[in-house]
Amino acid sequence: MKPIKNAEEIIRNRTSMRTYEKRPIPPDLIAKITQKISRFHNGPFGSKLRFQFVAATESDSDTLKGLGTYGIIQNPAGFVIGAVDPGLSGSGLVDFGYAMESIVLFLADLGLGTCWLGGSFRKSRFAERMNLHKDETVPAVISVGYPASSPRMLERFMRYAARSNSRKPWEVLFFRNDFHHPLFTSEAGEYASALEMVRLAPSASNRQPWRVVFESAKRQFHFFLQRSKGYRPEKLGVADLPRVDVGIALCHFEMTVGEAGFSGEWVAAPPEINRLPPLTSYVVSWKVA
Ligand SMILES: Cc1cc2nc3c(=O)[nH]c(=O)nc-3n(C[C@H](O)[C@H](O)[C@H](O)COP(=O)(O)O)c2cc1C
Repeated sequence: MKPIKNAEEIIRNRTSMRTYEKRPIPPDLIAKITQKISRFHNGPFGSKLRFQFVAATESDSDTLKGLGTYGIIQNPAGFVIGAVDPGLSGSGLVDFGYAMESIVLFLADLGLGTCWLGGSFRKSRFAERMNLHKDETVPAVISVGYPASSPRMLERFMRYAARSNSRKPWEVLFFRNDFHHPLFTSEAGEYASALEMVRLAPSASNRQPWRVVFESAKRQFHFFLQRSKGYRPEKLGVADLPRVDVGIALCHFEMTVGEAGFSGEWVAAPPEINRLPPLTSYVVSWKVA
């Protein structure tokens, strides 16, 4: 993935925007976005991904007809819809989160507001637009538009309910060599900013299910998924969103280290940790080059 300029600044300033101005995106910008997102087609696990940008124009406001969001999103100028085969292990969903978040940051860099929607969207209607292949699903979409100057009461309530402005502290998320020793910023050294950008990432219901163990001897950052007790996506009729969330975290990490000029790669290298905390499973590791 090509790092964007000022990744850190963009990540720090991004928040979910659900209320937009009634203003279409100009045709030349639509063309630029369409062209750019066609290039986001794989993630660390190499799953095949497809994305489509659907936007209303001044002359055709019907384009978005039927793409419902249960009233959560007001005046969207467009949506990015994506499709992937989740795969047996769910790695397709991690790739999906990784690539869709690169699109979110690219759009933020253009001054556009976005909101991830993993539950508040009429799945079948969005899926129809993608002409899904066998085994593909639409795990989530993002709404896009020019942010309104003040959010609606509903949006303010949603942010309050999900505690969207807060994030878990370092000692809950990041560890050294095993899950018993918290990793301090001083120990993370030049990787402290990349981990901070992981910490600030958006996640479904702000659950922040990512955990990272830094293995100092091997200079590897091991990413884990820690599920919330009782979360049953199949009962809610949504995709396994915590996997998408981990993909988002991987995107923030890679963008930030890429911008800092540090090289490395994603590898499957699960560390030898005797007992993992409950509901915790290994996903992938970043190997410092
Ligand atoms: C995978 C994913 C799915 C989400 N689904 C929804 C959704 O269905 N409806 C909604 O209003 N917000 C949704 N959100 C937005 C989160 O609630 C939001 O990212 C979180 O509360 C943190 O707030 P922030 O994005 O403003 O930092 C989703 C976010 C992610 C990453």
